[in-house]
Amino acid sequence: MIHYLRAAGAALVLDASGPGVPVLVHWGSDLGLLDPADLGTLAASSMPPVGPSSLDVPVRLSLLPTAAEGWSGRPGVGGFRTGVGQNDLSFELMCVRESGENTLAIELVDRNAAVSILIDLELSREGVLRLRNTLTNTGTGSFELAALDVILPVPDRAREILDFTGLWSHERRPQRSLLGQGLWSRESRHGRPGHDDSFLTVVGTPGFGFRQGEVWAVHEAWSGDKRVWGERSALGYAALGAGELLDPGEISLAGGESYSGPWTIAVYSDAGLDGLSARLHPWIRSWSTLSGPRKVVLNTWEAVYFDHDLDTLGRLIDAAATVGVERFVLDDGWFSGRTDDQRALGDWFVDAAKWPSGLHPLIERVHGAGLDFGLWVEPEMVSPESDLARAHPDWLLGSAAAPTWRGQRVLDLANPDAFAYMLERLTALLREYPIAYLKWDHNRDLLGGSVHRQTVALYALMDAVRAAQPGLEIESCASGGGRIDLGILSRVDRVWPSDTNDPLERQQIQRYTGVLIPPEYLGGHLGAALAHTTGRTSALGFRLATALFGSAGIEWDLTVATSAEMSQVRDWITVYKQRRASLHSGVVVHADASDPALELHGVVAQDRSTAIYAQVAVGAPRAALPAPLRFPGLAPERRYRVRQLAVGPAAQTVQTSPPAWLDSAARELILTGAVLGRVGLPAPLITPEQAAVFILEAVF
Ligand code: GLA
Repeated sequence: MIHYLRAAGAALVLDASGPGVPVLVHWGSDLGLLDPADLGTLAASSMPPVGPSSLDVPVRLSLLPTAAEGWSGRPGVGGFRTGVGQNDLSFELMCVRESGENTLAIELVDRNAAVSILIDLELSREGVLRLRNTLTNTGTGSFELAALDVILPVPDRAREILDFTGLWSHERRPQRSLLGQGLWSRESRHGRPGHDDSFLTVVGTPGFGFRQGEVWAVHEAWSGDKRVWGERSALGYAALGAGELLDPGEISLAGGESYSGPWTIAVYSDAGLDGLSARLHPWIRSWSTLSGPRKVVLNTWEAVYFDHDLDTLGRLIDAAATVGVERFVLDDGWFSGRTDDQRALGDWFVDAAKWPSGLHPLIERVHGAGLDFGLWVEPEMVSPESDLARAHPDWLLGSAAAPTWRGQRVLDLANPDAFAYMLERLTALLREYPIAYLKWDHNRDLLGGSVHRQTVALYALMDAVRAAQPGLEIESCASGGGRIDLGILSRVDRVWPSDTNDPLERQQIQRYTGVLIPPEYLGGHLGAALAHTTGRTSALGFRLATALFGSAGIEWDLTVATSAEMSQVRDWITVYKQRRASLHSGVVVHADASDPALELHGVVAQDRSTAIYAQVAVGAPRAALPAPLRFPGLAPERRYRVRQLAVGPAAQTVQTSPPAWLDSAARELILTGAVLGRVGLPAPLITPEQAAVFILEAVF
């Protein structure tokens, strides 16, 4: 049978007529109405010719390609058992079940190798495709699984590949190249995705941008090791692939045992990267269990580091309350013996020297100021210099001789006793204290032990903590953005995209992290003028405009802010609170600029009645008069009033006079979405590292 799945302008056609593994004949834009006869003709006509010096039957790229099918690219499954090598694996189709709307369960079997495979495939309402393979050993001896990947065909016109890399404080750097013949494969071996995670792998038509071009993307929803790739074979096929990166011997399946790979998320758009976000963001938002808005946070880390006492923190709480902060998050430094980052991880008891009456007096102060309370933890880690490590050296993952990382080792969560200890400690803290929010950190690569088992155990621990404390919010952090993936995101409410609060770095990190992750999940904090991670000094207005477009917070010692700064921060929080409902539910848009130094991004409300944009100068412009601001994503026929929104001190400019439309003496400006999107308005001449924010409101 031929299956035709359609949703929100995306579609796939799956030829499951057998006897071999089904073939995705089409994954891309909706093909309109096709009756079963059309689908049959489409599938039959997609059969390629038999080439010279090749297999004597047509070679098609199936959903689980193997050498037996004539596929000489990276196979979809790897493994062996005694007497059956990887190249012997060959599957036949047993059945395809429609288990829900746009949901298929495809069963394959290799009787000779005694393995069966189940492919779960779903196309969401938003047009997000997700697939997961499960392999079962149906024989008696063990089957050694090496790899079980999802492979999806992409058309020949997808000639460019974009993915990401980065490092601590500089996450999500884009890298782009031609996808020539061969394999562009990215592997994460950090025991977490890592700061250099490929994150989202996109192939597309040459020159694709935020608003234009056809693009196909994959992401592996997994917080452990993985590999994601694009491949163009000499045969002519191009594909995207993804799967968990397994260590040799890590998955040895006894008879009757199964392994399920992570979900691979795949998205198509004919409207560039913004088109991918337009599918991904609403799909991710549909998982959220939050009842209210995301609260404005004050995090203590860059404000006080390990310097915790009631007096210092009390002054910070009072200052936070004055400007309208809603949540106070006590970062690292509160637990027994934690005076610096070289000790005490694992000893999750409130430090009796710093807090003789526990955290109660602090939390009372927080509540008294009208804020709720959040706490930092790093449950997967242990300092060798800790009571826990001394009492249970066998609970540590990896070799005791291996070097530490930030003075720490990893707790082996797959050890049931270690798991039980951590669950008890976390739930005990949550029972004793009214904690609304945990910042859950992870500050080193694993580099030892089974990453698979550790990742499965981490998910189980998070799930157990959430089950024990319904309503608890969790922020996921891994030295900033070292673990941002849709596996963890399905369990948390916020991620910390980077340890840098430098707005110039943040603009890029948020821009690209935000292609996959909706803005309200992306913590963005107002830091000190002198950024702690780069030593760069930034204007308050630039810092505020940057932190506005995310889950906003503060990570600055407000007790040293001037009264003028405090009032700017207060006004910013007021604007944020007024606008956050649409900032946190709207459509994320970016203009494709000809000058890379000048960016324009924004959020358009779902009903397109309002939109907020930021013009950002990340460097010096190429021209004295930059290209007009073209506001993407508006309803073309509606008329919008355009105003500048004061977010902190006005952006510094080099203009003798502003563009006429921004002149305060000018009449208010109202134009259609079509004009504002296609013609645009002359840009003010803001200087590098400045931002100007605009609000557009439909007048009908
Ligand atoms: C990591 C986090 C920071 C902070 C420190 C505390 O580096 O990314 O935000 O919480 O740990 O040690």
